[in-house]
Order: sequence, then structure tokens, then C-alpha cells
Amino acid sequence: MNYFTMRNFITILAVFAMIACTSQKKTGTSSIALNPQNFDTLLDGKEIKLYTLKNDSGITVYLTNYGARVVGIITPDKDGNLADIALGYPDIYGYLKDKMYSGPVVGRFANRIGNAQFTLDNQEYNLFRNEGNNTLHGGKKGIDKCVWNATQSGNSITMTYLSPDSEEGYPGNLSMSVTYTLNPDNSLKIEYEAETDQPTVVNLTNHTYFNLKGEGDSTILDHYCQINADSFTPIDKEWIPTGEIAPVTGTPFDFTTGKPIGSDIDQKDEQLANGLGYDHNWVLKKDSAKAFGFAAKLWEETTGRYVKVSTTEPGLQFYSGNFMDGTIVGKSGRHYLHRSACIFETQHYPDSPNHENFPSTVLRPGEKYTQVSIYEFGVDE
Ligand code: GLA
Repeated sequence: MNYFTMRNFITILAVFAMIACTSQKKTGTSSIALNPQNFDTLLDGKEIKLYTLKNDSGITVYLTNYGARVVGIITPDKDGNLADIALGYPDIYGYLKDKMYSGPVVGRFANRIGNAQFTLDNQEYNLFRNEGNNTLHGGKKGIDKCVWNATQSGNSITMTYLSPDSEEGYPGNLSMSVTYTLNPDNSLKIEYEAETDQPTVVNLTNHTYFNLKGEGDSTILDHYCQINADSFTPIDKEWIPTGEIAPVTGTPFDFTTGKPIGSDIDQKDEQLANGLGYDHNWVLKKDSAKAFGFAAKLWEETTGRYVKVSTTEPGLQFYSGNFMDGTIVGKSGRHYLHRSACIFETQHYPDSPNHENFPSTVLRPGEKYTQVSIYEFGVDE
């Protein structure tokens, strides 16, 4: 090949490469679909798999039984372009190393218990301290790091896990079941149940990180957020509730009518300083204690996408991704930057076992813990 033929050949190759890149950008879907083979493995002698729920309106939800976890949520924007709006990793190895609790059910007690200690029926229980003096999201090996049994039936998957007595210090054999159902109306329903054989405390939630422009996008500070709450539970410098229930009116915590997450997040405010941003529990407005109702809405104007959260729980932890620091690389190879995702954790208030004025998280033999939370995905034109 002479010099000129070689140059033409290289030019043709470059043009082909450009065409290939452009067409991949346009369709997008093939690059965001997850490969189930990347999740097939054995842990603790149990099989881990990737499960897929799809509906006719173009929503795909990926789940794995490692931590009863949401791995991806693919939804269309107002122009029909698809993106995965839930953060996560492309394979199980990412999840085995995961430090940010990406997508799982967290528990046996979601969020923190101060001093990793509580007293129930005059008996003191000591838990694993995995964050300073405190316990966070179930301890060293919370239920997010356990392999659950999974059964899929159409657009529903039920995952079960039996947490043995004294696991991470919690009393009682606790049998848990979580059912994810993708409905035709684009809502993902999560139903939780738990039963115990000894008095214990339970607080379960889902810990999916959202960015409505697609995982790996640089920020959620431009997303709007509305929270159906007139008050919240202030925290100390270790994120432990002080026990107070404070009104949101006139504070950066007022999301009653909806505002961009970034509009007040850098205000000089003791609670924002303690939380390093928003990392607090809002006290949801309720007709009655277990009433199912609207909790929060997150929306983003350029894509039109929204997620609307409803729940039977009394509280909502809104976390603005303050610990994210760009070191974690996600599914599409992009770094997860500071505040590039947020979470809506439907729950009982953190540290409830140590605050008599908070709704009780005690579960006794013969009783059933239940929670229903719905995440509805859509677009506003
Ligand atoms: C929760 C907590 C945060 C943080 C994240 C995980 O949302 O409230 O403080 O621990 O989990 O990084």
C-alpha cells in the first residue's frame, strides 16, 4: 500500500468509527442494557442473578437478589430517549465492593442507632459500630450484603431472607420478604414484610440513588424536590436525631411546595452543617399512622422526568449524596460526583429505639411488620 492509499484507508476507517459512535449515541438503549451474565455467581453457596422487569410503556427495572437490590431503572424522557436513572455498577463485582449502599434494601435497622445500643424490655442490646460510635444500615454485614432467595412471577419478584438471632447484635430470628412489582402504570411497588420469634426492632427501606438525567450525570442540585412534610427530625454532628421534631417553615428544610435541591443547600444553617447537606428524616403528613400517602416528588425540567414516592411509612430520609466524592465509577464508566444523585428512603425515624416520642419500631412475636412504598415514574411535558 502506498502512502496515499494508506491515508485514504485511515480516513475511511475514521469516518466509519464516527458513524458508529453517533448511531450508538442516538439509540442509546444497547449501551444501557445490563448483561445478566455479569451477575451470575455464587456467594455463601447461594446463586446470585440479575432479574428483569419490563412493561409495555418502555420501563425496565433490573434487580438482583444480592441485597434485594435495584440495579437499574430505564425510563424514557419527554422525547422518548431512554436513560438509566438509578445509580449502580455493570457487574456483581462492583456490588461486592460497594460502599455507598447502591440500590439495596437496608436493615435490619435502616439508618443509624446512636451509640450502637438500645434497650428493649429491660434488656440492653449492643450492635456493631460501623460508623464511629454508631451503627449504620444494619451494621458490618447488613441485609444489603446477604444473598436473598428470589422467585419471579411475571412482573413481580419476591425476595426472602431469614436473618438469624443475634445477627449484627439484633435479637430474634427475623424472616423478611420484599416484593417488587412493576405495574403497567409505570410504578414500582415495594412491599415489605417481617416476622420475628423474639421482641426486636425493625426498620427497612430501599436505598436507590436517582439522577433523572441518567446515572453518571454531574449533579442533582438542579432537580426540583417536593416533600409532603411540615417538620423534620434535627440531628447532631454524627447524624443522630436529637429527639426534637422541628418545623420546616422558614428553614432550608422547607420543601412543601417544591424547589431546586441546590437553592438553599449552601445556606449557613446548623442542620445543613451537621448533615453536610440534606441527610435528614422528614416527618410525613399523614391522615393516620399507617395511611398510604404522597411522600415526595423529584423532577427535572430538561428531560421532563419525575419520580413520585408514596408510602405507608411515617418518615422519609432525603439524602443529597453528600458523601459522594467522584471516586466511584458507575455502570457507564462515569465517576459519581459529589451530589450527583439523591435518595428517598421511606422509613421509621432513625434511632427510634432511643426516642420514646418517635413512632415505635418494636416488633414482637405474632405481629407482622408491613410497609408499602411506590415509586412512580413519568414525564411532565
Ligand atoms: C444514608 C445515610 C447517609 C449515608 C448514606 C450512605 O442515606 O443517611 O448518611 O450514610 O446512607 O452513604
